[in-house]
Amino acid sequence: MVELGLPPIIGHRGARGLAPENTLGGLRAAFAHGVRYVEIDAKLSGDGVVILMHDETLERTTDGSGLVAKTSYSVIQGLNAAKNFPDAPAEPPPTLESVLALIQEVGGGINIEIKPCPGRERETAAAVVETVRRVWRQPIPPLLSSFDHAALDTCRTLAPNLPRGYLSEVADEDWVAHARALGCTTLNLLWKNVPPAQVPHLTASGLPLLLWTVNEPEAARAFLAAGVTSVITDYPDIVRA
Ligand code: G3P
Ligand code: MG
Repeated sequence: MVELGLPPIIGHRGARGLAPENTLGGLRAAFAHGVRYVEIDAKLSGDGVVILMHDETLERTTDGSGLVAKTSYSVIQGLNAAKNFPDAPAEPPPTLESVLALIQEVGGGINIEIKPCPGRERETAAAVVETVRRVWRQPIPPLLSSFDHAALDTCRTLAPNLPRGYLSEVADEDWVAHARALGCTTLNLLWKNVPPAQVPHLTASGLPLLLWTVNEPEAARAFLAAGVTSVITDYPDIVRA
């Protein structure tokens, strides 16, 4: 079985409660706060560069506008992805390649959530796999997760040895069966759908259980005590305290 190196606390989009999400500066801030493992969102620019971005549109997190899928990387490079943190220096949405270089430099771990724009599911997954294969040199691989089954299936076909996480925000489904059907090695679930009493049943499957987005310290402690492998949080500083 592949070593995953998952710690109890994972920073969400870097540490989006503390610093600009899905940016190099935000990731550095997360590591400065003692985070050792981060979750980020990856998608393609209009011209096929893998960048970090949560939304399909640019407005919420940058000073640009429009669809990411219709915007070239040369334009994205000129945007400020730190605009929601006025004290943070301006910086563009980073490439996945630059992020993987930073994570390796600081000796950290990473969960790459593949978040394709509609219609680009397999293309996005293939580009993420290509980037990881080209850049990543550490013994513990990134965890590739997605809500999108075509993306997970593409990862399995192209890189069966890279671990995959089954992401779901649906409450009433058989998560373990779905994850196993896609050959996933972790369950990444919305915390509100998982009562602590259900944790032993889920962990009995042998799949590590990751819950997002757990921002209450008491809830985080209760989940971890119940056997959850990792909580993904916007506030790793508070949740760890
Ligand atoms: O990977 C866990 C979590 O990030 C999934 O939701 O919308 O925050 O990407 P979202
Ligand atoms: Mg995410």
